[in-house]
Amino acid sequence: MFTVYVAVARDLEDAIVSELKGHSDVVLLGSAHDISTALRDLSQARPGALILDDAILTDASSEILAGFSNAPYPVILLAGAEGPLVAKRALAIGAKDLIDRLEWQHELFPALERVALPIAGDKREGRVISIFSSKGGVGKTMLSANLAVSLADKVHDPVVVVDLDLTFGDIAALFGTTPKATIRDLMNGPLTLQAVMASLTEVLPHVSVLAAPRTPEEVEDIRAEMLVPIFQVLRQAFHFVVVDLSPGYDQINVTTLDLSDVVLVITTPDVVTLRAVAQSLRLFRQGFHYDDKKVRLVLNRSGSKTGITVQDVAATLKQPVLYELPTEGNLPARAANQGEPLLRFDPQSSLAEAINEMASRLIQEETGRRHKRRGPRAWLESFTRRHR
Ligand SMILES: Nc1ncnc2c1ncn2[C@@H]1O[C@H](COP(=O)(O)OP(=O)(O)O)[C@@H](O)[C@H]1O
Ligand SMILES: [Mg+2]
Repeated sequence: MFTVYVAVARDLEDAIVSELKGHSDVVLLGSAHDISTALRDLSQARPGALILDDAILTDASSEILAGFSNAPYPVILLAGAEGPLVAKRALAIGAKDLIDRLEWQHELFPALERVALPIAGDKREGRVISIFSSKGGVGKTMLSANLAVSLADKVHDPVVVVDLDLTFGDIAALFGTTPKATIRDLMNGPLTLQAVMASLTEVLPHVSVLAAPRTPEEVEDIRAEMLVPIFQVLRQAFHFVVVDLSPGYDQINVTTLDLSDVVLVITTPDVVTLRAVAQSLRLFRQGFHYDDKKVRLVLNRSGSKTGITVQDVAATLKQPVLYELPTEGNLPARAANQGEPLLRFDPQSSLAEAINEMASRLIQEETGRRHKRRGPRAWLESFTRRHR
């Protein structure tokens, strides 16, 4: 499965778009029939492939052409049989494949299968980090919001928080913002990049929120199967996708846990929470077959005088505590009342520092996740053969 962006002249746009929409293997991120719209969309998206029409490139500057050759996605160029001029442009944009404009119905899909970067296991995509607990009030939302801020600060790249605490979620409030759209707005499709981007609320530079529905009635409309394509699009557009989950194992949670790269399970140092978290960990391991790289234990409110230490927690849950977040009195609550994430409200606090440290470690795991290098330009050979 791969995502595709289509930038082709008007005469082909509708036909190609509807052909691609019919393919279950393709997630269409969007389309345009002029180069400036395409460039604007592509500055926010990283498709698995760009289908680009030579017909909209005739006036493009050499900077624009060079820009495509540095793009992190492969470009498939559609062109009429114009000979050397086309070949020159194809080389300038670093096209991975060149197909005949008139033959697109036969050649386009095979070309996509050859060059498009697949979604599954493609290290280029944003990582999905879900924050879960079997209990409410343990700090899921506090961590979701602040981890997103810290990740965005460090990677200087867009991060999104998805509020899947559908009934009670109010992530945007922690940023002092009222969302202008919610996940409910995505339920009627189509799930293009434009539609998903329009459903987000930017709460800080580089930090956006996909808000929970406004009313309990709207929660009923959220269908778990829609989450898969929504996350596919978000992964392409964001460096990290942080998800705030509700307690429990409904279909929304199970779907999200499955597609997550990392599940942070939060516990607090008290017997009731530990007992509930132990059950979740057992389910994740034995029922869902998640490994320890995916499911990681976070101890929040560490240092609370409960008589339960971090060693006790690790021993009880038979899993190491990977991240420890100190208890910070009423500071997080005060930050929330001010509508400011703790990371901004008191960046020197030990809780903010612990979250920063956690973000650094999550980012470090990523290094080495580099774009695939371009292969030899196989199309060049067949093109020169055809036009000799
Ligand atoms: N480490 C902490 N120190 C102090 N207060 C905290 C800490 N973590 C969370 N809180 C506070 O606990 C309350 C519940 O946190 P919240 O993130 O809403 O939990 P959840 O989303 O799991 O229901 C909030 O008022 C939050 O500010
Ligand atoms: Mg919450």
